[in-house]
Amino acid sequence: MVQGKRLVYLDSAATAQKPRSVIDAVSRFYEHDNSNIHRGAHTLAVRATEAYEASRKTVQRFMNAAQQEEIIFVRGTTEAINLIAQSYGRMELGPGDEVLLTAMEHHSNIVPWQLVCEQTGAKVVVAPINDRGELIFEEFEKLLGPKTKIVAVAHVSNALGTVNPIAKIVEAAHGVGAVVVVDGAQGILHTKVDVQALDCDFYAFSGHKIYGPTGIGILYGRHDLLKRMPPYQGGGSMIRSVTFEKTTFEEPPLRFEAGTPDIAGVVGLMEAIRYVESLGIEKIAAHEHALLELAASQLSTVDGLRIIGTAAEKASVISFVVEGLHADDIGKMLDREGVAVRVGHHCAEPLMKRFNVSATARASIAVYNTAEDVHALAAAVRKAVNVMRGACAVQKVEVRPSSESIDQTIARVLREFESCADWEAKYQRLIDVGRSHPHIPDDYKQERFKVKGCQSTVWLHARLEGDKVLYSAESDALIVNGLVALLLRVYSNRTPDEVLKTEPTFLKEMGLAENLSQVRSNGLAAMVRDIRSYAAALKQLLALRRPA
Ligand SMILES: Cc1ncc(COP(=O)(O)O)c(C=O)c1O
Repeated sequence: MVQGKRLVYLDSAATAQKPRSVIDAVSRFYEHDNSNIHRGAHTLAVRATEAYEASRKTVQRFMNAAQQEEIIFVRGTTEAINLIAQSYGRMELGPGDEVLLTAMEHHSNIVPWQLVCEQTGAKVVVAPINDRGELIFEEFEKLLGPKTKIVAVAHVSNALGTVNPIAKIVEAAHGVGAVVVVDGAQGILHTKVDVQALDCDFYAFSGHKIYGPTGIGILYGRHDLLKRMPPYQGGGSMIRSVTFEKTTFEEPPLRFEAGTPDIAGVVGLMEAIRYVESLGIEKIAAHEHALLELAASQLSTVDGLRIIGTAAEKASVISFVVEGLHADDIGKMLDREGVAVRVGHHCAEPLMKRFNVSATARASIAVYNTAEDVHALAAAVRKAVNVMRGACAVQKVEVRPSSESIDQTIARVLREFESCADWEAKYQRLIDVGRSHPHIPDDYKQERFKVKGCQSTVWLHARLEGDKVLYSAESDALIVNGLVALLLRVYSNRTPDEVLKTEPTFLKEMGLAENLSQVRSNGLAAMVRDIRSYAAALKQLLALRRPA
């Protein structure tokens, strides 16, 4: 239960919930077998090592890798891609070489390549996608050439759900002699992965997205490539011999597993794979697909809602925006209905820019979700939209000089919000207040007047009129504009001293603090900070103006 409602967990693309068998396997390991691996002479060390290596075999079988030496335990997809970039990439790339990505990549499959390109003089090239969120294959092919040394591509996009045609991509890339790195963070679960059939050179995934523990992941690498690659990190377990003059290294996979690994995580991952195999990955995929179609058909009937990512081949993810509603507010409103979705740029900022949105709300579906969950999602989204649309249209009013004291204004604002029956009514009130708030002059809509630390845009300007500070402010997001208007009601047209001595505790008393998302609360704190620093600066100006 969350917020007094049945939890509807639709955030499995961020991390999946864990089955009892995985939790038990991790506990059992710590209770009965806990020891460090390799080289231990005692029973527990042998048991821990056997479990660790059995997990490697399980992963090999699961991905159909040719040999278990091709399976490297890492912390997750991010570490796997960094390993390839810093080991293979640094070894192979030189000035003028190219790493070809697609416009839908997760930051984990962008930033490591940028880093290695800076180090080697190579460059990142990006293949475009169409408006449905599919790779434009002809354009991708055109970008391939003798300079392309690495192609790095998501199997399934975390922000759109698009399934990329990996086998086709590999064939084209191999045609120009490039190796292919597949970011399988989302792909491993929603499609049957056979690395030999795909013929990819590297495939990375994270345990926590496939019902396993956090902190453990897999890098599959073709053995002939791994054998040529230098170590990524140095330390224990990855060496053959060490002298101060010279160190020699283990063969893969141990060469890439420096230090004590997450042994319990490795054991948990083996159990997670058993869980997935016991259900059957094709059955899981079919179940998720049916729910995805249901979600798409239900959400597409919501007024003003636009689905971002409508590829013909899609898996498990539905991203959307709603006209006039910021994704953060959707997330918070859905949470109040017990529906957990992710909001933001999903670590894919370039992709958000491609679709001309700053953020989306994303529901992601896993094996434990049901049609009831999808209905709950659609109902909660409809409710959020109604709350927004239900807010009445109000005449614009100026923030006028007021004879009311600052305390009287606060008391009035508190009364106004106390009369709201529940949180929804408060939200509506806030939107009304925002709608009644006047626009600021275009002159104030400049970069230097933007409040830093707000996810939505907020412009704030202050000037002195007599001995009072007059604030002007506006936001592009409805709810934030309501908050802006409330702050100005209280703080505008007061002396700097009045502003500085009045802490914004009324926001807490109104019950706003606990009902806003973290991003919104941070934004609110940033607005208050700027209001106060304007007051402090204008106080100094007033002091200078006063005759000595
Ligand atoms: C497509 C994709 N790539 C990479 C990652 C990074 O995975 P991790 O944070 O587990 O390393 C994610 C996580 O959301 C992802 O969805």
